[in-house]
Amino acid sequence: MAASDKVQHLRDKKSQALLGGGQQRIDSQHTKGKLTARERIDMLLDEGTFQEIDMLVQHRCNDFGLEKQKYYGDGVVTGYGKINGRLVFVFSQDFTVLGGSLSEAYGAKICKIMDQAMKVGAPIIGLNDSGGARIQEGVVSLGAYAEIFLRNTLASGVVPQISAIMGPCAGGAVYSPAITDFVFMVKHTSFMFVTGPDVVKTVTLEQVTAEELGGAETHAGKSGVSHFASENEAECLQSIRNILQFMPQNNMEDPPTLKCSDDPNRMDDELGKIVPVNANRPYDMKDIITRVVDNHAFMEVHANYAQNIIVGFGHLNGKSIGIVANQPAVLAGVLDIDSSKKAGRFVRFCDAFNIPLVTFVDVPGFLPGTDQEWHAIISNGAKLLYAFCEATVPKITVITRKAYGGAYDVMSSKHIRGDVNYAWPSAEIAVMGPKGAVEIIFKKQISLAEDKEQATEDKISEYRERFANPYTAAERGYVDEVIEPQHTRAKLIAALQMLENKVDSNPKKKHGNIPL
Ligand code: HXC
Repeated sequence: MAASDKVQHLRDKKSQALLGGGQQRIDSQHTKGKLTARERIDMLLDEGTFQEIDMLVQHRCNDFGLEKQKYYGDGVVTGYGKINGRLVFVFSQDFTVLGGSLSEAYGAKICKIMDQAMKVGAPIIGLNDSGGARIQEGVVSLGAYAEIFLRNTLASGVVPQISAIMGPCAGGAVYSPAITDFVFMVKHTSFMFVTGPDVVKTVTLEQVTAEELGGAETHAGKSGVSHFASENEAECLQSIRNILQFMPQNNMEDPPTLKCSDDPNRMDDELGKIVPVNANRPYDMKDIITRVVDNHAFMEVHANYAQNIIVGFGHLNGKSIGIVANQPAVLAGVLDIDSSKKAGRFVRFCDAFNIPLVTFVDVPGFLPGTDQEWHAIISNGAKLLYAFCEATVPKITVITRKAYGGAYDVMSSKHIRGDVNYAWPSAEIAVMGPKGAVEIIFKKQISLAEDKEQATEDKISEYRERFANPYTAAERGYVDEVIEPQHTRAKLIAALQMLENKVDSNPKKKHGNIPL
């Protein structure tokens, strides 16, 4: 073969690989409102940066006629490229090839780029669109999945891992994303379930649609499996680009510092008007967060799940921060099982990747009741407590209003290594709210009083005077400074700067035993 023919031969093979499962299946993918694996990579990465690996890999299975169904790439496109100029590794599953199902060769391709990403310390992004284990390959496919799960676990806390679900993902195809740091789904075209609606009907007799069982809104709102539910694939891929700007490349680096066009000393008088005088009235904590961060830009994570707590990313003077905040506008900002799990995992992500934590507190306590107790609010609430306790990144806390009971301790209090703890003058730091407290400690006096209502009111005012303020905590140094709300941004930035070179560590151990 002449040299030019050899080059042509290579080009032919590559052109064939670019077609995946063929034009008809590509058309069918488009008809469903989905992009192909390669189109997704092009949209995700900086233009022209993608370098493909293993384009010509094929499966080695000869069962059930698969020897006649071979495609270059074998159903997954893998390689590396850049996002905002920074290196990332990516795999993109190709539903046009045997439903994106995972074979031995396909699994090895994913493992190869995961291993490379770990060696060079760069994020791994998986674009998932797969029917799970390739049934014709049997246990070999299961083994390939397990190899990926192992790498997901070993990479956890070393390099950021992000999963986008962009089609019907079943079986093994959902467990790898579940181990990763952030899961993105696309409304109406992506699904995640261990078993689909047909199996559910056979086993439990429940009739449920794929959307209800495992659609984007189900997982972003009900189960919390997904952190984001995007309107379409383009929005989903753009969100992945956005979230990466808050993260370092790996756990040995700090997150990138952005140029800040927002005045670090910007004061905002409106901040002083947000907390209502009546302590029982709700307000939206997001009003406070967006007024404090650079350019009012807050990227909320898990926006539709456990909305009584808010988590997400922002910048302060160009530095990336993770924000955890009680939300008084939902269930009065109470801590319950879901909110504890949501915030606990977020705190651990930030701590693993050197992202300072800023915590805004307005919490009346833990949610009482049989439902919560029987579903283990004790061990689930302890997840958040544990996460804040073990975190060694800079931790700054602002108590805007209530910090009651155990929830005061949990929400990055001074006692669990909060570095700088601020309170607004509206803060109330106590074992419980005035009414509850008075009904317990003055039960006898009130029952003996002639005018019980008046006696209760008197005791409530006495209690409020004594405890419903930040000054007892400030007297003891549990609060470092009581600050005026309009100064919050400048105070946080000053504290972050002071903490820039903070070094703290936990006792040497294999790993702790978080109450999972
Ligand atoms: C081999 C598969 C496949 C699979 C789909 N295909 N899933 N081939 N192994 N797992 C093939 C189909 O035969 C079909 O080929 C093509 O992909 C497209 O599939 P369709 O069913 O036509 O597409 P659609 O109607 O969109 O349905 C998609 C789907 C469905 C919901 C994903 O295919 C499905 O339910 N697949 C099986 C899901 C599953 O149970 N997987 C195994 C899980 S067990 P042709 O040639 O006809 O077009 C597992 C174990 C791991 O993953 C456990 C680890 C913890």
